Amino acid sequence: MQTTVVDHPLAQQLLTRLRDERTDRATFRQTTDTLAQMLVYEATRSVKTEAVALTTPMGPTEGVRIGDPPLVVPVLRAGLGMLGAVLHLMPETATAFIGVARNEETFQPEPYMNSVPPDLHGRDVLVLDPMLATGGSLDHACRILAERNAGRLTCVCILSAPEGLARLEATGLIDEVVTASVDSHLNDLAYIVPGLGDAGDRLFGTA
Ligand code: PRP
Ligand code: URA
Repeated sequence: MQTTVVDHPLAQQLLTRLRDERTDRATFRQTTDTLAQMLVYEATRSVKTEAVALTTPMGPTEGVRIGDPPLVVPVLRAGLGMLGAVLHLMPETATAFIGVARNEETFQPEPYMNSVPPDLHGRDVLVLDPMLATGGSLDHACRILAERNAGRLTCVCILSAPEGLARLEATGLIDEVVTASVDSHLNDLAYIVPGLGDAGDRLFGTA
């Protein structure tokens, strides 16, 4: 499994804004969207293109199009904060949803939704989840996708903990994790340190 850290200064400035506890919800959502676009840009570097013929005002030339964009799978709920970035960059892509809530006492993933088609026929997948902590949620999501014949699996995470990366690597299912940072460690409540707090609550509030 390859881990790609997007350490571009613009990405790191956005990440700093997300980490700051003073950042309000509207700014947090907007910043998540912009940073996710940068991560997705990197995560789609190897996507296949087809040649297309066109004419510029100066004459004929050849360009490219992405004929078969990857399926995008946000892990609910916080992954929804990154979905707009993918749909903005690849408007034709299809979306499936996996809902999983981490039990905050046992840290185990508790699934509540799955709209992934029964057979993906080798289609590449981008899995979106801003936080890779213990790795339980993404481990669960990627097992579903692998069982349903996903092709290349790329996880896009704003923050990653070393513990979560090790767990995903051990599955042997994931080709790449693209992240803005590999943070120091998990605390006793399995939160990423220094992290940014609870991503779902900061994006959407507590009901
Ligand atoms: C958060 C986060 C990840 C998960 C990471 O979701 O968005 O999905 O925890 O933790 P893990 O790597 O230890 O599994 P949460 O379960 O809090 O749900 P939410 O997205 O609805 O807030
Ligand atoms: N989920 C979050 O939202 N934040 C963490 O630090 C860990 C899990």
